[in-house]
Amino acid sequence: MRRAVCPGSFDPMTNGHLDIIGRAAALFDDVYVAVLVNESKRSLFEPDERIAILEQGTQAMGNVKVEAFVGLLVDFCAERSIDTIVKGLRAGGDFDYEVQMAQMNRTLSGVETVFVPTAPQWSFVSSSLVKEIARFGGDVESLVPSYVLDRLARRLSGPS
Ligand code: PNS
Repeated sequence: MRRAVCPGSFDPMTNGHLDIIGRAAALFDDVYVAVLVNESKRSLFEPDERIAILEQGTQAMGNVKVEAFVGLLVDFCAERSIDTIVKGLRAGGDFDYEVQMAQMNRTLSGVETVFVPTAPQWSFVSSSLVKEIARFGGDVESLVPSYVLDRLARRLSGPS
Protein backbone atom coordinates (compact mmCIF):
# COMPACT_ATOMS: atom_id res chain seq x y z
CA MET A 1 0.00 0.00 0.00
CA ARG A 2 1.65 3.25 -1.16
CA ARG A 3 0.45 6.27 0.70
CA ALA A 4 1.31 9.87 -0.25
CA VAL A 5 0.56 13.38 0.93
CA CYS A 6 0.00 16.56 -1.06
CA PRO A 7 0.69 19.35 1.44
CA GLY A 8 0.04 23.06 1.10
CA SER A 9 -1.74 26.16 2.30
CA PHE A 10 -4.41 25.93 -0.43
CA ASP A 11 -5.56 29.51 0.18
CA PRO A 12 -7.48 28.87 -2.02
CA MET A 13 -7.15 25.69 -4.10
CA THR A 14 -6.47 26.40 -7.79
CA ASN A 15 -6.81 24.33 -10.94
CA GLY A 16 -3.06 23.69 -10.65
CA HIS A 17 -3.48 22.13 -7.18
CA LEU A 18 -6.37 20.00 -8.39
CA ASP A 19 -4.31 18.73 -11.31
CA ILE A 20 -1.42 17.68 -9.04
CA ILE A 21 -3.75 15.99 -6.52
CA GLY A 22 -5.50 14.07 -9.31
CA ARG A 23 -2.19 12.91 -10.75
CA ALA A 24 -0.98 11.86 -7.28
CA ALA A 25 -4.24 9.92 -6.82
CA ALA A 26 -3.47 8.01 -10.03
CA LEU A 27 0.05 7.15 -8.84
CA PHE A 28 -0.63 6.13 -5.22
CA ASP A 29 -3.13 3.90 -3.42
CA ASP A 30 -4.05 6.53 -0.84
CA VAL A 31 -3.51 10.28 -0.99
CA TYR A 32 -3.87 12.69 1.90
CA VAL A 33 -4.24 16.39 1.18
CA ALA A 34 -2.68 18.13 4.20
CA VAL A 35 -3.90 21.69 4.70
CA LEU A 36 -1.45 23.76 6.73
CA VAL A 37 -3.00 25.69 9.59
CA ASN A 38 -0.52 28.43 10.37
CA GLU A 39 -1.79 30.75 13.11
CA SER A 40 0.98 33.27 12.44
CA LYS A 41 0.15 33.62 8.74
CA ARG A 42 -2.94 35.56 7.73
CA SER A 43 -4.99 33.61 5.22
CA LEU A 44 -7.96 34.74 3.15
CA PHE A 45 -9.92 31.55 3.86
CA GLU A 46 -10.25 29.85 7.22
CA PRO A 47 -8.96 26.25 7.36
CA ASP A 48 -12.52 24.83 7.36
CA GLU A 49 -13.35 26.66 4.15
CA ARG A 50 -10.09 25.63 2.49
CA ILE A 51 -10.87 22.03 3.45
CA ALA A 52 -14.45 22.27 2.19
CA ILE A 53 -13.19 23.54 -1.17
CA LEU A 54 -10.65 20.70 -1.43
CA GLU A 55 -13.27 18.12 -0.47
CA GLN A 56 -15.55 19.42 -3.21
CA GLY A 57 -12.69 19.30 -5.73
CA THR A 58 -11.59 15.78 -4.83
CA GLN A 59 -14.95 14.11 -4.12
CA ALA A 60 -14.82 12.17 -7.40
CA MET A 61 -11.38 10.80 -6.50
CA GLY A 62 -12.10 7.75 -4.37
CA ASN A 63 -8.70 7.52 -2.69
CA VAL A 64 -8.20 11.12 -1.51
CA LYS A 65 -8.72 12.39 2.03
CA VAL A 66 -8.40 16.02 3.14
CA GLU A 67 -7.13 16.91 6.61
CA ALA A 68 -5.82 19.98 8.42
CA PHE A 69 -2.40 19.90 10.04
CA VAL A 70 -0.35 22.00 12.39
CA GLY A 71 3.35 21.57 13.07
CA LEU A 72 5.77 19.53 11.03
CA LEU A 73 4.76 17.75 7.84
CA VAL A 74 7.03 14.82 8.73
CA ASP A 75 4.97 14.27 11.91
CA PHE A 76 1.75 14.25 9.88
CA CYS A 77 3.38 11.61 7.65
CA ALA A 78 4.65 9.46 10.52
CA GLU A 79 1.24 9.42 12.24
CA ARG A 80 -0.40 8.08 9.06
CA SER A 81 2.37 5.81 7.71
CA ILE A 82 2.86 8.09 4.71
CA ASP A 83 6.23 7.58 3.03
CA THR A 84 6.01 10.00 0.10
CA ILE A 85 5.36 13.73 -0.25
CA VAL A 86 4.07 14.80 -3.67
CA LYS A 87 4.78 18.36 -4.74
CA GLY A 88 3.93 20.16 -7.96
CA LEU A 89 6.92 21.91 -9.49
CA ARG A 90 6.34 24.97 -11.64
CA ALA A 91 8.92 26.03 -14.20
CA GLY A 92 11.27 28.60 -12.74
CA GLY A 93 11.38 29.73 -9.13
CA ASP A 94 9.99 26.72 -7.23
CA PHE A 95 13.00 24.48 -7.58
CA ASP A 96 15.55 25.72 -5.02
CA TYR A 97 13.15 26.04 -2.10
CA GLU A 98 11.35 22.79 -2.91
CA VAL A 99 14.61 20.83 -3.06
CA GLN A 100 15.70 22.36 0.24
CA MET A 101 12.43 21.26 1.89
CA ALA A 102 12.66 17.80 0.32
CA GLN A 103 16.19 17.31 1.63
CA MET A 104 15.22 18.59 5.07
CA ASN A 105 12.17 16.32 5.30
CA ARG A 106 14.21 13.29 4.21
CA THR A 107 16.90 14.11 6.74
CA LEU A 108 14.32 14.51 9.50
CA SER A 109 12.42 11.28 8.90
CA GLY A 110 13.41 9.46 5.71
CA VAL A 111 10.23 10.52 3.90
CA GLU A 112 10.82 10.91 0.15
CA THR A 113 9.54 13.79 -2.00
CA VAL A 114 8.34 13.17 -5.54
CA PHE A 115 8.09 16.22 -7.79
CA VAL A 116 5.38 16.31 -10.44
CA PRO A 117 5.84 18.97 -13.11
CA THR A 118 2.79 21.21 -13.32
CA ALA A 119 0.74 20.96 -16.48
CA PRO A 120 1.87 23.78 -18.81
CA GLN A 121 -1.53 25.48 -18.67
CA TRP A 122 -1.22 25.94 -14.89
CA SER A 123 2.52 26.60 -14.61
CA PHE A 124 2.02 30.32 -13.90
CA VAL A 125 -0.88 29.88 -11.47
CA SER A 126 -0.51 30.44 -7.73
CA SER A 127 -2.98 31.08 -4.94
CA SER A 128 -1.27 34.39 -4.18
CA LEU A 129 -1.66 35.68 -7.74
CA VAL A 130 -5.25 34.45 -7.94
CA LYS A 131 -6.09 36.39 -4.75
CA GLU A 132 -4.30 39.52 -5.93
CA ILE A 133 -6.03 39.53 -9.31
CA ALA A 134 -9.43 38.77 -7.81
CA ARG A 135 -8.96 41.47 -5.17
CA PHE A 136 -8.55 44.10 -7.89
CA GLY A 137 -11.47 42.85 -9.92
CA GLY A 138 -9.48 40.84 -12.48
CA ASP A 139 -10.81 37.72 -14.14
CA VAL A 140 -9.62 34.44 -12.58
CA GLU A 141 -12.41 32.30 -14.01
CA SER A 142 -10.02 30.11 -15.99
CA LEU A 143 -7.69 29.51 -13.04
CA VAL A 144 -9.99 28.13 -10.32
CA PRO A 145 -13.17 26.00 -10.28
CA SER A 146 -16.49 27.88 -10.27
CA TYR A 147 -17.17 27.09 -6.60
CA VAL A 148 -13.87 28.77 -5.67
CA LEU A 149 -14.78 31.75 -7.82
CA ASP A 150 -18.07 32.13 -5.89
CA ARG A 151 -16.32 31.95 -2.53
CA LEU A 152 -13.66 34.44 -3.66
CA ALA A 153 -16.35 36.90 -4.73
CA ARG A 154 -18.19 36.52 -1.41
CA ARG A 155 -15.07 36.78 0.71
CA LEU A 156 -13.65 39.78 -1.12
CA SER A 157 -16.92 41.69 -1.03
CA GLY A 158 -17.44 41.03 2.66
CA PRO A 159 -15.67 42.42 5.74
CA SER A 160 -11.92 41.76 5.70
O1 PNS B 1 1.29 25.94 -0.26
P1 PNS B 1 2.55 26.27 0.48
O2 PNS B 1 2.30 27.39 1.47
O3 PNS B 1 3.69 26.57 -0.45
O4 PNS B 1 2.94 24.94 1.30
C1 PNS B 1 4.11 24.92 2.11
C2 PNS B 1 4.09 23.69 3.05
C3 PNS B 1 2.80 23.62 3.83
C4 PNS B 1 4.25 22.45 2.22
C5 PNS B 1 5.32 23.83 3.98
O5 PNS B 1 5.36 25.12 4.50
C6 PNS B 1 5.29 22.84 5.14
O6 PNS B 1 5.50 21.67 4.95
N1 PNS B 1 4.99 23.36 6.35
C7 PNS B 1 4.85 22.57 7.54
C8 PNS B 1 5.96 22.85 8.54
C9 PNS B 1 7.18 22.02 8.21
O7 PNS B 1 7.16 20.81 8.17
N2 PNS B 1 8.30 22.75 7.97
C10 PNS B 1 9.55 22.16 7.58
C11 PNS B 1 9.64 22.06 6.07
S1 PNS B 1 11.18 21.35 5.57
